Amino acid sequence: MRVLVTGGAGYIGSHTVVQLLAAGHQVEVVDSFANAKASVVPRIEALTGSLLTVHAFDVCDRDKTEALLAGGAFEAVIHFAGFKAVGESVAEPLSYYDNNLDSTLSLVRAMNRHGVRRLVFSSSATVYGADPELPMREELPTSATNPYGWTKVMQEQILRDVAAADHSWRIGLLRYFNPVGAHPSGTMGEDPQGNPNNLVPFIAQVAVGRRERLAVFGGDYDTPDGTCLRDYIHVEDLAAGHVAALHRLQAMAEPVGVWNLGTGQGTSVLEMVAAFSRAVGRDLPYDIVERRAGDIAVSYADPSRAHAELGWRAVKSVDDMCADAWRWQSANPQGYPDA
Ligand SMILES: NC(=O)c1ccc[n+]([C@@H]2O[C@H](COP(=O)([O-])OP(=O)(O)OC[C@H]3O[C@@H](n4cnc5c(N)ncnc54)[C@H](O)[C@@H]3O)[C@@H](O)[C@H]2O)c1
Repeated sequence: MRVLVTGGAGYIGSHTVVQLLAAGHQVEVVDSFANAKASVVPRIEALTGSLLTVHAFDVCDRDKTEALLAGGAFEAVIHFAGFKAVGESVAEPLSYYDNNLDSTLSLVRAMNRHGVRRLVFSSSATVYGADPELPMREELPTSATNPYGWTKVMQEQILRDVAAADHSWRIGLLRYFNPVGAHPSGTMGEDPQGNPNNLVPFIAQVAVGRRERLAVFGGDYDTPDGTCLRDYIHVEDLAAGHVAALHRLQAMAEPVGVWNLGTGQGTSVLEMVAAFSRAVGRDLPYDIVERRAGDIAVSYADPSRAHAELGWRAVKSVDDMCADAWRWQSANPQGYPDA
């Protein structure tokens, strides 16, 4: 298929582009580089042996998005582009609503106008809200605890409404749990700008000497070791879930499919620190500090619908995630180069 990938220079997008190319799809990327470096592109090309066409603009720009869809002869779009930092979304809600909603509206309008009605969308387990029943199943009600989460709830709703109005759409809403890890080559990985918001990039930066100690937010949760439990999923498994969803859209009877992409296993923060320490070969220093506002104690998926309908399941272990994240971080202590 000819596939347009928005946000394809970002963390999950870049890993997915590599797998799409490996599966024989023709891929073009559009990315504003608001949260990515251009030096990821030659890394993708080196891994795949393909030249990648990259359009460097903001998908909120309706004229440019319209022109891209008019000329691209795309058969499907995977929409990763968006802002994703929960804390930043609390501090700057308008920029999150602007970017996440406008990019989706601009893209979907242009797709509709040019008859490209297959879309895979990056949603999140955050749409299960503050106190979900466990394990989290796709049919649970949606809500959110912060502006970022609300943008995901709203984007899902917009896409459902678009598909309800025109049944020729085929839309996959993929609810990711906690993506971590890196490409096994060590040449691509997660490269947060500024303070990492997520656990694994933070531990990786402690391990490589960029930060002194890890802060573990809360040690008094109602969990076996008192720290939060999350369903960590290797970014390579997640990328494979996108390829599976893209294939599924072609055969789908209903306009919208919703799939959790997780392992179904909860791992505590301290278990993750121990796994990362095994990967590095030494204990990593941490302090248990106050809880962080908005964190829920436990989050893990029921991934059985994705098994049944996409023929997909996560296969990589927590040790694989840490070994690959460490290979990436130790080979690229400062992340991707600027030029
Ligand atoms: N990483 C996670 O923990 C996680 C979890 C659940 C859902 N998601 C969602 O998955 C998607 C990808 O996440 P990621 O971790 O790869 O993030 P990322 O920031 O690495 O990638 C997003 C990419 O989109 C680009 N971008 C942002 N706004 C844009 C716009 N308006 N036009 C064009 N490009 C734009 C950025 O430059 C970046 O390259 C996001 O929508 C995110 O909300 C991520």
